[in-house]
Amino acid sequence: MATRSLFLLPGDGIGPEAMAEVRKIIGFMNDKEAAGFSTDEGLVGGCAYDAHGQAISDADMEKAMAADAVLFGAVGGPKWDAVPYEVRPEAGLLRCRKDMELFANLRPAICYPALANSSSLKQDVIEGLDILIVRELTGGVYFGEPKEIIDLGNGQKRGIDTQVYDTYEIERISAVAFELARTRKNEVCSMEKRNVMKSGVLWNEVVTATHKARFPDVKLSHMLADAGGMQLVRRPKQFDVIVTDNLFGDMLSDIAAMLTGSLGMLPSASLGAPDAKTGKRKALYEPVHGSAPDIAGQGIANPIAMIASFAMCLRYSFNMVAEADRLEAAIAAVLDKGLRTGDIMSDGCKQISTTEMGDAILAAYAG
Ligand code: IPM
Ligand code: MG
Repeated sequence: MATRSLFLLPGDGIGPEAMAEVRKIIGFMNDKEAAGFSTDEGLVGGCAYDAHGQAISDADMEKAMAADAVLFGAVGGPKWDAVPYEVRPEAGLLRCRKDMELFANLRPAICYPALANSSSLKQDVIEGLDILIVRELTGGVYFGEPKEIIDLGNGQKRGIDTQVYDTYEIERISAVAFELARTRKNEVCSMEKRNVMKSGVLWNEVVTATHKARFPDVKLSHMLADAGGMQLVRRPKQFDVIVTDNLFGDMLSDIAAMLTGSLGMLPSASLGAPDAKTGKRKALYEPVHGSAPDIAGQGIANPIAMIASFAMCLRYSFNMVAEADRLEAAIAAVLDKGLRTGDIMSDGCKQISTTEMGDAILAAYAG
């Protein structure tokens, strides 16, 4: 069987600890299930800056471009607060997204039954929650030019970021959202700020036109992004798929993550367009949580979002649907048993370490 190439970028903070648990699962799948994964590993974020003075080296960037899929941990930490903006840890992640053209970021927020009481919201509000945020990832204010601080010469400076979207960018991300909706409850809610932003007016127009032309069977609604944030906290189960821009998606997905009990639970997939010849799409999988420098190196981080990101990798990059289902079921089974890392600990449960959580999930997967 052809090998399946994975490029691992564990990064900073709790990234390496979480990635170590995924590496165990990859090892098991290779040894016992002849999965044929080949892995290579590189540096990204602060650790790459320390080694090469760049947030990701050109050599590692080439490997990321060549791999079937990239597994990404987390970047950043106070150690690098003062490094120049161009080489700050986050620049490594943003370069991956931009160079690999990963325009579609899928952030599912699922409430595991066992965690329904560890959310800050009432149990009945989030029990059974299953929403998918589809975030545009290579455009908008993250990358728009000009992006600069200019000196006005009168003792004042001006900071400028540019929110910009072209029709094709909105078309392709909304098509991804509509296609995914068809595999779920068939509902898309598009969020923008058309009441104050021209890019929001265009967003709304293009999503509406794409829906009419290609996906009339899907139920489409629109919401202003601020109201969307409010509704996510008020009645999150009203949503199926939410499609939104880069910055709103960043904020709304953090809100959605916390609905499920902990940021430590949320995986994500960032996908490019399918190649016209091979049908393959570039892909990067990362937990939504950050590098959590305050708890890094203590062995207490929650590896579930990283492991669930690997499950998404199995599903979307390798079409290993049965394995992805089993891995996700293994996570649920371990939670059902009452095993918890500190961030999701609750009364009557057993608190375990990062490696114990990884081992328990692998054992449940292995059956
Ligand atoms: C995310 C993160 C990143 C973002 C940071 C680390 C640059 O918050 O993936 O949500 O803002 O996109
Ligand atoms: Mg974020």
